[in-house]
Amino acid sequence: MISVIIPVYKEAENIAAISAEVNRVLSNAGFEHEIILVDDNSQDGTEKICASLIKTLPLKLIIRKQNKGLSLSVIEGIENAAYQIIVVMDADFSHPPSALPQIINTLLKDKADFVIGSRYIKGGDIDKNWGVFRRINSKIATLLTKPLTKVKDPMSGFFCFYKKSMPDKKILSPVGYKICLEIMTKGNFLNIKEIPIRFTDRSKGESKFGLKEQFNFILHLIKLYLFVYPNIKQFILFSAVGASGFVIDISVYVGLQKLFNANHILARGLSFWVAASSNWALNRNITFKAENKSLKLKQWTFFLIASLLGFSANFGIYYFLTKYIPFFEKYLIAAFIIGIFFGLFINFILSASFVFKKNKSDK
Ligand code: GDD
Ligand code: MN
Repeated sequence: MISVIIPVYKEAENIAAISAEVNRVLSNAGFEHEIILVDDNSQDGTEKICASLIKTLPLKLIIRKQNKGLSLSVIEGIENAAYQIIVVMDADFSHPPSALPQIINTLLKDKADFVIGSRYIKGGDIDKNWGVFRRINSKIATLLTKPLTKVKDPMSGFFCFYKKSMPDKKILSPVGYKICLEIMTKGNFLNIKEIPIRFTDRSKGESKFGLKEQFNFILHLIKLYLFVYPNIKQFILFSAVGASGFVIDISVYVGLQKLFNANHILARGLSFWVAASSNWALNRNITFKAENKSLKLKQWTFFLIASLLGFSANFGIYYFLTKYIPFFEKYLIAAFIIGIFFGLFINFILSASFVFKKNKSDK
């Protein structure tokens, strides 16, 4: 019933022990199982060791020759799984095999559709030898996933789910290490549970997690954010348009005075309209290209109203912060910047939900 997927890279020292232990625990608990080692062509004797292990253990070895990667290996292992329940774990005993029955039984009996072996819930723990840097690093990484999931330890590499709920390969973008986070956010899981595990660092071999993987993680996060919040793309475009508007605003303001000797109050009043109109045209044709069906004059008017409301929010926050919070009295520029972002955000919400909304009755 259970397919245990273990990605391995240069784990020759660990595979015999981990395979035997997983087999022992699952046999004792009465689970029919297979163990799939997915090796990225380590060339460290893994193949030979497996050839002998296969005589006594329900073991399969997949050797990949292209596109090296932890996440890709796990996906390939899952594709080749014969059974309906998938467990993914590391080869280096960081994930205690003794937790296997609990992780599987939680899936079977607790109406969960995804179960994670978690370091950050009661009863779970990280390795005592982790230095301050690794602890903080792990905490920050976890914090960055908060807008994506409520799970306490989404960075875990120890998890279990039904093969049938594996998300379509077409929507997966497996960069780097965090395959649990990837499957969890892209699949349709309604009841994700965590069981506590004590994570221990490997005693044999080396971790492959380095600077490159940190960078991959940032790339991965960006992809996941765009997946969960497709509006982010629009928000970025909207901000860029806003920045261009700022440049136009200043240019017109200065230009009118220098070139036409205009009064500065008049210049200030006029430049806003030019900048806001340019923002409107750019947003209509770029940011909200697919939604720009509404009548031009009406949309322009609404956009200006949204811009004014955005500015009011910007000004309101600035006023509030600098008047009531001593810190900002000292650092006015900080309040100024927060105000800009807040105003931009309000303007965006109004634009996306009202100004540029698809409206069938409009032409
Ligand atoms: N096939 C394959 N290809 N396997 C790999 C690769 C690869 O490129 N890189 C690593 N592995 C295997 C290792 O052999 C090991 O079995 C497992 O993936 C985890 O690799 P480690 O190098 O031991 O990672 P770690 O201990 O730094 O990270 C673990 O803990 C993290 C939480 O702190 C992993 O479980 C991560 O997924 C987890 O986020
Ligand atoms: Mn490890």
